Amino acid sequence: MSANAVFLAPGEGETVFSVSASPIKFGAGALRELGADAQSLGMRRVGFFVDPHVLASEPGQAALASLRAAGVDVGVYDAARCEPDSDSFERAAAFAREGNFDGFVSLGGGSVMDTAKAANLLATHPDELIAYVNAPIGRAKPIPGRLKPHIACPTTCGTGSETTGITIVDVKSVGLKTGIASPLLKPTLAIVDPTTTESLPAGVVAASGFDVLSHAVESYTARPYTSRPRPAHPSQRPAYQGSTPYNDIGSLAAIRLGGKYLARAVRDPADREARHQLMFASTLAGLAFGSAGVHVPHAMSYSVATLRHEYTAAGYEEREPMVPHGIAVVINAPAAFRFTAGASPARHLEAAAALGADVAGAAPGEAGEILARAFIALMRETGLPPGIAALGYSEADVPALAEGAFAQQRPLVMAPRAVTRADLEGIYRDAMRYW
Ligand SMILES: NC(=O)c1ccc[n+]([C@@H]2O[C@H](COP(=O)([O-])OP(=O)(O)OC[C@H]3O[C@@H](n4cnc5c(N)ncnc54)[C@H](O)[C@@H]3O)[C@@H](O)[C@H]2O)c1
Ligand SMILES: [Fe+2]
Repeated sequence: MSANAVFLAPGEGETVFSVSASPIKFGAGALRELGADAQSLGMRRVGFFVDPHVLASEPGQAALASLRAAGVDVGVYDAARCEPDSDSFERAAAFAREGNFDGFVSLGGGSVMDTAKAANLLATHPDELIAYVNAPIGRAKPIPGRLKPHIACPTTCGTGSETTGITIVDVKSVGLKTGIASPLLKPTLAIVDPTTTESLPAGVVAASGFDVLSHAVESYTARPYTSRPRPAHPSQRPAYQGSTPYNDIGSLAAIRLGGKYLARAVRDPADREARHQLMFASTLAGLAFGSAGVHVPHAMSYSVATLRHEYTAAGYEEREPMVPHGIAVVINAPAAFRFTAGASPARHLEAAAALGADVAGAAPGEAGEILARAFIALMRETGLPPGIAALGYSEADVPALAEGAFAQQRPLVMAPRAVTRADLEGIYRDAMRYW
């Protein structure tokens, strides 16, 4: 690992990073212990947020049986919207309020886990959703206190939401995707059982797997924590610290695992090793980005996901047309890394090497192109669209796309270089068609 680990002397800049470890249980069969874990957290009546596909599967049934065997009373909510919006969050919050639960369990992809986080928040500390949503779109009201215990159990190899203090929502009143971010939203426990991935359609593995790779590469190339001024008081240290030596370990390991297993996991549903390893990569990348932060590809993804709804990805045929999160992110990644590489070429080359690219003898000026090509090769191999034009966008959409992305200052400030609205327009143009 290189480049960003510039340790400044006290007084010159930030010299301290922190690690807030999330409790995680990982492994095949871990869901069979869900009931005992719920019990030990004092849960007697839980709101069980579950993906309907997962509920019918063997791990879904095992989870439910485990809760019931432990004497936990369960209210089931299987109506979370895939890629939630403000209306679906409100409906879930009504269920959580009326159910009088003393804790929550979520078993599904990012959509289900994020819905449970929001329902827990709105039922425990009632207010309008928009009050808590990130500024400038919402009012960014601080969450007033602890939430009820929440055990989050991912079933896609993707979002890492099981350990993050964020929930993502399409705010219907403004037509933009953004989030609510607070350490208080972090689930109390993550139970990661990789057998849940065995029923995933290949297209969902591709979309969520690229979310993992984007989390990992963005965390690794995020501005270094040493580039911020040292805060006057520790409480002012931001939740997203930038890349740190600790986050780097998980990011690099996740990039290597993604580079080795993503295509295999998409190609062959019976390749359990590949799917299980991708799930581990997802957990590692979630821990890294939940502390380091993500930057340009994610900032750009929200307008890609919300301005046009004309695309149907493989694996998402039963939904209305929409761009799944992982595709909305990675479609920007090659162009975004071409743009950011100049700020930290060594890191971009290390990420490319971890993905499996040949970087022998590469000059710093080639770093962006080499990393972009590594992403493009994997995108082609796994059947992703060739650029944002394939999602329905054209040159005429570029100003609106850039305006939406520029509003996402929370991730944009984590980029290794400053990003203007004009820069974003240029990156969207570059992302129009890669092959
Ligand atoms: N909170 C965070 O930290 C965070 C991070 C990244 C993304 N997100 C959000 O997460 C959402 C995307 O989540 P996702 O990519 O995990 O997908 P998802 O939860 O939207 O699920 C995708 C599809 O896969 C199906 N599915 C899920 N698990 C399955 C299984 N085991 N077997 C069969 N089918 C299954 C779902 O029914 C759905 O059709 C987006 O809203 C995104 O913005 C949140
Ligand atoms: Fe993501």
